[in-house]
Amino acid sequence: MTIQPGNFAELSDFALRRDELRHIRQSLHSNPELSFEEHQTAAYVAEKLEEWGYEVHRNIGGLGVVGRLQQGDGTRSIAIRADMDALPIEEATGVSYVSRSPGKMHACGHDGHTAMLLGAAEYLARTRRFNGTVNLIFQPAEEAGSNSGAQRMIADGLFQRFPCDAIFGLHNHPGAPAGTFLMRSGALMAAGDTVRIKIKGRGGHASRPHLTIDPIVAVSNLVMSLQTVVSRSINPIETAVVTVGTIRGGSASNVIPDQAEISVSVRSFSSQVRSLLEQRIRQLAASIAEAHGATAEVEYELGYPVVSNSEQETAFATKVVTELVGADRVSVCPLIPGSEDFAYFLEHKPGCFLRLGNGEKSAPLHSPQYDFNDENLTVGAALWARLAERYLLAGQGGEDVEHA
Ligand code: NI
Repeated sequence: MTIQPGNFAELSDFALRRDELRHIRQSLHSNPELSFEEHQTAAYVAEKLEEWGYEVHRNIGGLGVVGRLQQGDGTRSIAIRADMDALPIEEATGVSYVSRSPGKMHACGHDGHTAMLLGAAEYLARTRRFNGTVNLIFQPAEEAGSNSGAQRMIADGLFQRFPCDAIFGLHNHPGAPAGTFLMRSGALMAAGDTVRIKIKGRGGHASRPHLTIDPIVAVSNLVMSLQTVVSRSINPIETAVVTVGTIRGGSASNVIPDQAEISVSVRSFSSQVRSLLEQRIRQLAASIAEAHGATAEVEYELGYPVVSNSEQETAFATKVVTELVGADRVSVCPLIPGSEDFAYFLEHKPGCFLRLGNGEKSAPLHSPQYDFNDENLTVGAALWARLAERYLLAGQGGEDVEHA
């Protein structure tokens, strides 16, 4: 089959589908489902994909859905992912399509992410101007925090069952103008880890401290010493955050308690820095406890890893978004200290996670006032359609990416 260069999806191809995409997005918004509970959302997505002619696979890694579409004899394959889950937040947007489930809302725009990918799905199945395999991944439980949807889908054989050469995903970005893209090669979003440290001493009467091992003094010392981890151990051109978020110990002013504990949030943008932080935090906890005659119990829980975009795929995606919306609507994305479980996909496949402006006046993500910007629906759908067409260019497989 022959595809003329330049004959790729444009924003105008989606103009007539604006209302339909808005309807899909707003009905997802009205029916939010939390992580691991996306039954209706997954069923709706699967039904739509089937209707359009996709080979549909349900219940992957829980409630994950994959829609597969093959065209021509091309051997290349692409994966594009959207997340489907909502958050346990009471909505306060006042929109007409407000959440019908009290205490649950789409406060991170995953309703929009799902609607945009469905928009591209319909277009790709109808026009079929590509040569190869498209795998559309609708992922549950992005917000789970640990053992999330991405991890579960990968553990369930996602990439063995649906091989792909590269994977792409997108998140909306409050604060940036709608319809603009923010791109970054390499590290984009932070790894976020949680540490709980318990200092065990020996309690007693406040008037007789010499008969005790005071965990309050030891833990205070530890909190101060943790402030030196980033400033003294991390290369100044790298960045990281160590925040002690909670401190607990004791119940009365005249009692020295047996133990005291803190919890710490740790953010980093490279695996080297991430493991150095763990090493230093463990070392400080053990040695400061020991210096006080106490012991330290450290529970180090690794959260989502760094979202790290590969160079070629980022250059390719940047080229596609620039063609689509114009260079003045594409900028370099700053490092984002938040985390995202798309990071796990990027540990297995090269790819790129993009950010799409949600409007300068948009409420922040995870806020009760947040709402996905419907102006973006056609932009996002056109992006995914064009990206797939470009990536699976007939007869020129691979060229597009390698020469990007
Ligand atoms: Ni999100």
